[in-house]
Amino acid sequence: MTGLSDSFNRPINYLRLSVTDRCNLRCRYCLPENGIPLLPRSDLLSFEELVSIAKIAAELGITKIRLTGGEPLVRKDLPRLVEMLARIDSIDDLSLTTNGVLLRHQAKELKQAGLNRVNISLDSLKQDKFHYITRQDKLKEVLKGIQAASRAGLSPIKINMVVLRGINDDEIIDFARRTINDGWHVRFIELMPLTPTTHPATFVPASEIKTRLLSLGDLKPSLPPHGIGPARYFHLPRARGTIGFITPVTEHFCISCNRLRLTTDGKLHACLMSDDETDLRPALRRGASPLQIKRLIQQAVYAKPPHHHLAEGITPAKSAMSKIGG
Ligand code: 5AD
Ligand code: SF4
Repeated sequence: MTGLSDSFNRPINYLRLSVTDRCNLRCRYCLPENGIPLLPRSDLLSFEELVSIAKIAAELGITKIRLTGGEPLVRKDLPRLVEMLARIDSIDDLSLTTNGVLLRHQAKELKQAGLNRVNISLDSLKQDKFHYITRQDKLKEVLKGIQAASRAGLSPIKINMVVLRGINDDEIIDFARRTINDGWHVRFIELMPLTPTTHPATFVPASEIKTRLLSLGDLKPSLPPHGIGPARYFHLPRARGTIGFITPVTEHFCISCNRLRLTTDGKLHACLMSDDETDLRPALRRGASPLQIKRLIQQAVYAKPPHHHLAEGITPAKSAMSKIGG
């Protein structure tokens, strides 16, 4: 293994694979009510194509893979893909980000297939608010999904909450309490202004969230529940779980970014916030050699920009979150 790094010497060892552009929710900050035009199924990479890219990426130095969507659990037979990816020797961390709606049916099978852990997106613990934000009445299913993931040993489980002023910010304390009472690892995420429906007034900076948590006691810096990543972690007095802050807007973490992202139709993005992409699918489908694919990945990595410009209000024109999976 050679190790992969970009032109700013950032080691790149993490690949996020989007396995579908479909989603069974319609979160207001992510998708319009009627969804967005979907790719024809023939454009989606097959499991075999995904695995061949993952293998080449692993040879280059990728050791961590996360499956994303859309909602990855709506992709048929996902445990089969997990099993294929888990067989790649040098991948030491295989994880999944899900909205949790279908997790109760699949947690055990995914674990048996070799999945290590899950992150679950959950923005409200109140049925009516959950319904309002996601436009679907599925909170109970998600809560059962969290229990099923915990029983299956898909841990540490992280709960991701995007904080929205006037919508769910009154639940910051309730989520934080779960780190004490239930040992949850909760991450508060700053809203990124990526869709026309994300109203700037709903944005809450992490600094404000932290201040609001003071009523529960001092936040002490904490080790991450697993590996390293963009979140900064803390814990409350007597809490088994941790509280993380993900601050893409007020304090970008680009300097330590170690990621690549592959869209469901095979476009490699070295940066979530840039429209630059390298289309791997035509090369794959015309039978390019692993070495040729390797070169394409290396070129994309080399062109990875130093940082994004969200704080100045500059957003990518076409990278839809639901296509690239966050
Ligand atoms: N800002 C912040 N987080 C977002 N996510 C989706 N869209 C946005 C946005 N505009 C989150 C989801 C999920 C993860 C995949 O990305 O809630 O936790
Ligand atoms: Fe919500 Fe994630 Fe689906 Fe977007 S992709 S609508 S954030 S569950």
